Amino acid sequence: MLTTSTVAAILAFCSLSSAKPLNRKWEPSGSANTGSAVSYTTADIPGTATGWPHHHETSSTSSYYSSLSYAHSASTAVDVPECTASPDSGDSSSNTGSSGNAGNSGNSGGSGDSTTTITTTVASGPATPTGLSKVAQILLSDTRADAINNVLKDDADFVFDFNKARKFGPGAGGEVVQANRKAFPALTGTGIGMAVGFLGPCGFNTPHVHNRATELLIVTKGRVVSEMVVENGVEDADKKPRDITNTLEELQATPYFMGALHTQYNPDCGNVTFVAPLSSEDFGANTMAQAYFALEDDTIRAAAGNQITGADVDKFRGIISTNVALGVEQCLKKCNIPKSS
Ligand SMILES: *[C@@H]1O[C@H](CO)[C@@H](O)[C@H](O)[C@H]1NC(C)=O
Repeated sequence: MLTTSTVAAILAFCSLSSAKPLNRKWEPSGSANTGSAVSYTTADIPGTATGWPHHHETSSTSSYYSSLSYAHSASTAVDVPECTASPDSGDSSSNTGSSGNAGNSGNSGGSGDSTTTITTTVASGPATPTGLSKVAQILLSDTRADAINNVLKDDADFVFDFNKARKFGPGAGGEVVQANRKAFPALTGTGIGMAVGFLGPCGFNTPHVHNRATELLIVTKGRVVSEMVVENGVEDADKKPRDITNTLEELQATPYFMGALHTQYNPDCGNVTFVAPLSSEDFGANTMAQAYFALEDDTIRAAAGNQITGADVDKFRGIISTNVALGVEQCLKKCNIPKSS
């Protein structure tokens, strides 16, 4: 929400910029004082426009812009609201003035229209390349407004349906549906993502880390047993790596720090749902058992003090679970779930 003083400041800015400036760098030679209902917009792509100070009518800005190459120099645009007034509103104060043709301020000069209408506009497109993924287009848009106007055109672009995104697999114990920016492009540039976990009876979200995010998991249905091993040096009384273990009831939450090894399982015979915001739109996951057994046999044997044989390594590889697996033995017994299912 804008505060009252912010709104007042914006209005003051608008009336200033629509007043005829004293230090006008150029005088339009054309249609300035005609009083016709033509308005001009401010081009917001510095360094590329040709033909300045020709005027560009609102109705033709799209073709004007589409003739511009996207490979323009770094933007010097400032995120201030632009004030589109009736044609005689004066030079826009967004003129950078750094050189004779640096500013693309297109508002024509002149005076005489007493009813100045003040609206806030944003520069019209493209300022967004085409033919790329939505995420890439958003990343390459000149402004957030360009991205939303040109890429996220449908209101439905702002909704992600975790229920519809479910695949009901591949693990037997449930699944974790991830809304990163690839799955949900509207997140691009926001620095936030989300995962929603559906764990069946005894379902087990196998140990993993998130490469680029801290997670804040809240249980919304059922109970979750949570474990986290943070990093070297976080130890229990026996000087062993500390395993922070909690049973989370409904609406209880726990954080998993970026890079910390963590896992969850459903200790009960009903379904569990948890919701996990993550502090990155591209949080990533590295599932530890799979990652470890992706190493060379000799490396794995060396890491285990050469106490296991090559055949053992293959055997372990064969029993690595999918991400969400059927978990802990005692739960399987309690819920009468055969181990192989
Ligand atoms: C538990 O979840 C599974 C898979 O989503 C569903 O088929 C089953 O009906 C659910 N059971 C209950 C009791 O809600």
